Amino acid sequence: MVTGADDEVTLRANREGFQKFQLRPRRLVDVSKIDMATEIFGARHDSPIVIAPTGGNLAFHAEGEIAVAKAAKAGNHLQMLATGANTSIEDAIAARGAPVWFQLYPTNQWAVAEALVRRAERAGSPVIALTVDTLSLNNWETLARLRRTDTRNCADCHGEGLAQYVARRPNFDGIDLTGATSFGAPNMNWDFVKRLRDTVKGKLLLKGILAHEDAVLAPRAGIDPLENNSSQLRRYSSTKNHSKTARRRNRWGSQPQPTTFWP
Ligand SMILES: Cc1cc2nc3c(=O)[nH]c(=O)nc-3n(C[C@H](O)[C@H](O)[C@H](O)COP(=O)(O)O)c2cc1C
Repeated sequence: MVTGADDEVTLRANREGFQKFQLRPRRLVDVSKIDMATEIFGARHDSPIVIAPTGGNLAFHAEGEIAVAKAAKAGNHLQMLATGANTSIEDAIAARGAPVWFQLYPTNQWAVAEALVRRAERAGSPVIALTVDTLSLNNWETLARLRRTDTRNCADCHGEGLAQYVARRPNFDGIDLTGATSFGAPNMNWDFVKRLRDTVKGKLLLKGILAHEDAVLAPRAGIDPLENNSSQLRRYSSTKNHSKTARRRNRWGSQPQPTTFWP
């Protein structure tokens, strides 16, 4: 991790925090047959590694998220596709050869959020992950500093406004963007989550919860077991990292379940 946001406070705190962890290997354990299989939402996965969604992968690789899907297939890892991917959910699932989860930026128009969800579900995506830590823009100070030295015009590639911005983000193809002006929904609250829960046919999870108070509120909105990023530094560099191994109960059973932490 190179940068965070506001003063890089949490970036430093996380680096220091993680330095306190060390491996404590146990010896004389039979490793001739290694089974890393894990179960998430009732589905068995051979690997516990999940590829987090990152938008606009054409910026990094000529094949965009197709390359990620191929890598996920090679390692049999679970892939989560970003709303703002340069690859459609249909093509990602085809390249992965297995269901891919869909990360949702709902925009500020409910109809767009609903259309994105329906599209992902039609494609065969079993889980919708609503990103809740991007209601508004972040203060990336490094970006602001570097931008001064970069003479390129952002709009030359990214366009002006949401419609032009998503022109190369095929999950939006065919969706009426009337009234949509932002990727996130700045007025998103628990009522929105409940409405989305009633709309999504499969599993719904929240991506970006940090405070334990929110983890407590989530099941009341009908949310399935929570995701919790361990390093949402780019979003919350002025808050402490709350990724403790909290145990909690979910609505699918009475057994306490560890909160899932993304890498
Ligand atoms: C380049 C980049 C793009 C990202 N794009 C998205 C995105 O479109 N949607 C989203 O929910 N998270 C996005 N994220 C956040 C990641 O999914 C992930 O939660 C975050 O990077 C923390 O995981 P890490 O510590 O492994 O980086 C992005 C992160 C990076 C670095």
